[in-house]
Amino acid sequence: MSVVSRRAGAAAAAFDAVGRFYFASRYSERRFAETISDFTFGNPQEMPLPGIGEAIRRHALPQNKNWFAYKTSETGPQTFVAGRLSAELGLRFAPEDIALTAGAFAAIALAFRLVVDAGDEIVFSEPGWFCYEPIAFAADAVPRKVALRAPAFDLDLAAIDAAITPRTRLVIVNTPHNPTGRIVQPDVLADLADLLTRASRRISRPIFLLSDEPYRRLRFDGRGFTSPATLYPHTLISYSYGKVLLAPGQRLGYLALSPLMPMPDRKALQDALFPAQMALGWTFPNAVMQYALPDLEDLSIDIAALTRRRDVLVGTLGAAGYEVLLPEGTFYLWGRWPAGADPERTWNALTDRDVFVMPGEILGAPGWFRICLTASDAMVERALPAFAEAVRP
Ligand SMILES: Cc1ncc(COP(=O)(O)O)c(C=O)c1O
Repeated sequence: MSVVSRRAGAAAAAFDAVGRFYFASRYSERRFAETISDFTFGNPQEMPLPGIGEAIRRHALPQNKNWFAYKTSETGPQTFVAGRLSAELGLRFAPEDIALTAGAFAAIALAFRLVVDAGDEIVFSEPGWFCYEPIAFAADAVPRKVALRAPAFDLDLAAIDAAITPRTRLVIVNTPHNPTGRIVQPDVLADLADLLTRASRRISRPIFLLSDEPYRRLRFDGRGFTSPATLYPHTLISYSYGKVLLAPGQRLGYLALSPLMPMPDRKALQDALFPAQMALGWTFPNAVMQYALPDLEDLSIDIAALTRRRDVLVGTLGAAGYEVLLPEGTFYLWGRWPAGADPERTWNALTDRDVFVMPGEILGAPGWFRICLTASDAMVERALPAFAEAVRP
């Protein structure tokens, strides 16, 4: 019998495919090589935005004895986020609605701890981000996966409804969506809100919606964004600065409660934020990142560069017979190997040419693959002939 707890074992099993890809694959052998075109994880492939280092440096020198004391959600950045989020989403967040976290990872884990008991169920869609499931297992929760609707990977509302049971406490919606780049439209969110209101009545408990929006600011072609928090009162928002800054190693994000939530529930959750976050392992951002937050708020990676890479890759892949979905947001491109091409053989043929993409199996969609557009222009340029060669008969 393993000395590892069942929940740690289940989390490890759910993370196995991505873990093997990262630690024990041809990608793991080559990932630091200078010559590769790395389209795998959402990591930077170029120097960081200069403003990030400047903001951190500005706040790194202690100004008083408490500078590096324990930090919870500090009132200054919490109030700042409440103000900016209110303006961005058109809702009136109070500072108490905001829990500052070490990125969206911690915000998601916090959401699970707040509203999900052991054995309760969490519904989310596939293909999707590969960490909802391990985080759910680590919280002793039961994941219930439903498929997105091909060919455009729309939310399948009927499937979500059918997956809801008396044990359902949370439904996750990720918009803009990793890996497909789709942004969920307001009419679909309104239908989802109706569905969850009806389902909550059916099971006599509020079902919470976790709107995972770390790519909220990364949108193409001037597209709009509606947060589910504006349409469904029992919504929690998870956010990360790691995507818009492309600095996921500097952990900073938050969990926000929808101000539309009925007051007794909103107050109960506000009061539970600090103890839950402390008990989860003090998952607040470090002091310096909290001080730097207002200086980081308006920085963003270059969306024009992402758009340029998206368009060049969509053109080349389309011409070579791949099927690609034009992303509306995120920094990902979601594609399918050409008809008749063997996914593993084609992935290896790309790898032989030093081009690395993320296989769709890892995201719950064999036959598909994900390209991360944070690759440099030079990487894209080098990779273009390889994409065509890899599928040439
Ligand atoms: C959909 C989604 N949610 C949450 C996260 C976690 O973001 P962070 O590492 O910035 O906390 C990611 C990161 O890849 C993601 O793709």
